Amino acid sequence: MSIHPLPPPKEPTGLGRLPLARWFLFTGAVATVAFVAGAVVVMLMIARTRALRPRPDVAEQLGQLNAALIVLFSVLLACGVGLTVIVRYAVLKPIDQLTEQVRTVAAGDFDHALHVDRPAELAELSSHVDAMRGRIVSAWRVASDQAEELRRSNGELEQFAYVASHDLQEPLRKVASFTQMLEQRYGPQLDGRARQYIHYAVDGAKRMQLLINDLLDFSRVGRVTGEKTVTDSGAALDRALDNLSAVLEDTGATVTRDELPQVRGNRTQLTQLFQNLIENAVKFRSEEPPRVHVAARRRGEVWEFACSDNGIGVEPRYADRIFLIFQRLHPRDVYPGTGIGLALCRKIVEYHGGQLWLDDTGPGGGATFRWTLPAAADGGSTHGEAGDGDG
Ligand SMILES: Nc1ncnc2c1ncn2[C@@H]1O[C@H](COP(=O)(O)OP(=O)(O)OP(=O)(O)O)[C@@H](O)[C@H]1O
Ligand SMILES: [Mg+2]
Repeated sequence: MSIHPLPPPKEPTGLGRLPLARWFLFTGAVATVAFVAGAVVVMLMIARTRALRPRPDVAEQLGQLNAALIVLFSVLLACGVGLTVIVRYAVLKPIDQLTEQVRTVAAGDFDHALHVDRPAELAELSSHVDAMRGRIVSAWRVASDQAEELRRSNGELEQFAYVASHDLQEPLRKVASFTQMLEQRYGPQLDGRARQYIHYAVDGAKRMQLLINDLLDFSRVGRVTGEKTVTDSGAALDRALDNLSAVLEDTGATVTRDELPQVRGNRTQLTQLFQNLIENAVKFRSEEPPRVHVAARRRGEVWEFACSDNGIGVEPRYADRIFLIFQRLHPRDVYPGTGIGLALCRKIVEYHGGQLWLDDTGPGGGATFRWTLPAAADGGSTHGEAGDGDG
């Protein structure tokens, strides 16, 4: 298995920059020089003392001292050579081996095992590091398998939604229009019950057309209308209000707003988002004329928006359910709709890297939906300016 290499290691600083081998060479050279100098000085001193013709017993002592020093220096030399060999083969070489293995793993070959036999400390260290590597690799493998599986099933689902919503449109249109033609042409010859049946069939077909169109819209998010630019959220709200002007006028709704910021997003989808939320705020109104307020506040890298209304509100226990596709809390004859609006809103917000949720209902009742969107690079607040060039 090979994945992206890790970033290059940090450069060491200070005296620690020198590799261990060089430290040993340096110390070894100093010790050798000191050793040779020491030996030469001692021999010179003994030779000078001999030149002074000492007494025979002193000369004999000197001879013994000379022999003892030669043995001592030989032992020291043998120890020095032995230490060098041990450091070279038992420390530096295994460290080099381990470094080379770690370098291969860091270069991207995460299946490369780490193992050195000696010394005991390095063998233990390498086996712990290798166990960690193994564990991380298998967790990564499971996660990437799951991600791949999710991507595949997501793709299949999107494909299914697209096929269901696109290819079924035509046969359904046929069913609806031929049933209507049946009613128009043979209506007078049919009795009341037959006409009622035809009415149900047409009604069912029309409803299915609505559902299918909604599904098509839903499956399009992020697939067709995906381009994200710096967009003025105030302008997106304006467009949504424009699209809803008739229903806002009919219901006497008032929509107020804070100063709305520029965000990074897709203007069509942001308009859809505002439109669905405000449409809901007006549709699920209480006895009073609807009052809707759209607010925004900066939270680090994102803007948090809120859309609050004075309508019938949503019970907290349905806070998750209302975001599921085709899930509704009321019968269709009381509040019309297919139940896709909030699912679409959530998909749009998540496509932008944000989150959408139902906030706890405030003291004034009604419902408050909150969502986050990434701030545009400058993060400026430009309500009223045609920031995205769409007026
Ligand atoms: N502002 C709101 N006040 C009260 N209830 C709401 C509000 N917004 C959504 N809901 C509840 O959440 C449900 C799901 O909303 P959603 O927008 O997905 O569907 P819908 O409005 O019923 O249908 P559609 O949006 O497809 O026309 C609604 O049926 C309603 O019960
Ligand atoms: Mg809705």
